Amino acid sequence: MNYDKIINDTVIFVKNTLQNAEGGHDWWHIYRVWKNAKLIASTVNVDLLIVELGALLHDIADSKFNNGDELIGAKIAKKFLELQNLDSDKILHIVKIIENISFKGGKEIQKFNSPELDVIQDADRLDAIGAIGIARAFNYGGFKNREIFNPNIHPNFNMTKEEYKNSSAPTINHFYEKLLLLKDKMNTETGKFMAKERHKFMEEYLSQFYKECGFDSAQPSFDVWFSDWISLFLFNLNFISILMWLKLKRFFILKGGWAESKPRYLISFEHFCFWNDFHFYI
Ligand code: ADP
Ligand code: NI
Repeated sequence: MNYDKIINDTVIFVKNTLQNAEGGHDWWHIYRVWKNAKLIASTVNVDLLIVELGALLHDIADSKFNNGDELIGAKIAKKFLELQNLDSDKILHIVKIIENISFKGGKEIQKFNSPELDVIQDADRLDAIGAIGIARAFNYGGFKNREIFNPNIHPNFNMTKEEYKNSSAPTINHFYEKLLLLKDKMNTETGKFMAKERHKFMEEYLSQFYKECGFDSAQPSFDVWFSDWISLFLFNLNFISILMWLKLKRFFILKGGWAESKPRYLISFEHFCFWNDFHFYI
C-alpha cells in the first residue's frame, strides 16, 4: 500500500462525493478537519494514516442529509477502503471512528474510544466553534429555513438524541445546546488549547449580537438563571446537612448522649448559624 496514493485517492473520492453538499458539511469542512487533525496528531502518539483517512471520510454521508440513516457514512467509507486494499483491522478502526464521532446532543454514551478518534473528534469540534463554527451554524439554519433568534424560544438542555436531531429551534439556541459546550468536551491538550480562543470569540460574538438586539449583554434565559440558583441552594443545603450530621454524631457518640450534650449543642447551633464561626465547631 502506497501512503500518498491512498490519501490522494481518498481526497478525490471525498471531493467528488461532496460536490453538492450543504456549505457547512462540504469538502472545505473536510479539508479544515483534515488539516487540524494532522496538526493535533503531531502532538500525540497516533497512527497517522488512520487519523488522515478517518478525518477525510468522517462526513462522507451525514445521516442528517440521508433520511436519518446513521450507518450510511460508515458503510460507504468501508466499501471505498476495501477497494483500496487497506488492512481489515485499519478499515474496522476507521469505520468505528465514523460511527462514533458525532455529538448528537451530547447525551449518548460513546461506544468506542481510541487516540485516533480523540484527535479527529477534536478537529471536527474545532470546526464547529469560533468564526467558522458561527458561519456553519447560520448556514445550516438557513439551509433548514430556521429563525436566527427568537427570545421566546429558550434553549433546551435536556434534549434526547431524537429531540436534538429533530429540533427546529432558532440557530442562536444551537450555541447553548451544542457550540458553547464543546470547549469542555475536547479530548487532547492541543484541542483544548485551540478551543479556548474560538470559544471566547463566540462569547464576544453573542454579546455583540444581544447588544444589537437591544439587550445590554448576553443574558442567560430565566430558566438557566433559575436552575443555577436552585442548584447552588441545594448544594449549600447538602453541605449544611453534612455539617449538622458531623456535629450531632460528635455529641451523641463522643459526648455520651443527648441530655449531656444539649446545652453545648444549642450554643454551638447558634454559632453554627453564623457562617464565620461554623468551622470552629466541626
Ligand atoms: P454532530 O452530529 O456532531 O452534532 P453535526 O453534523 O450535526 O454534528 O453538526 C455540525 C455542524 O452543523 C454544527 O456544528 C453546526 O454548525 C451545524 N448544525 C447542526 N445542527 C444544527 C442546528 N440545529 N442548528 C444550527 N446549526 C446546526
Ligand atoms: Ni464533521
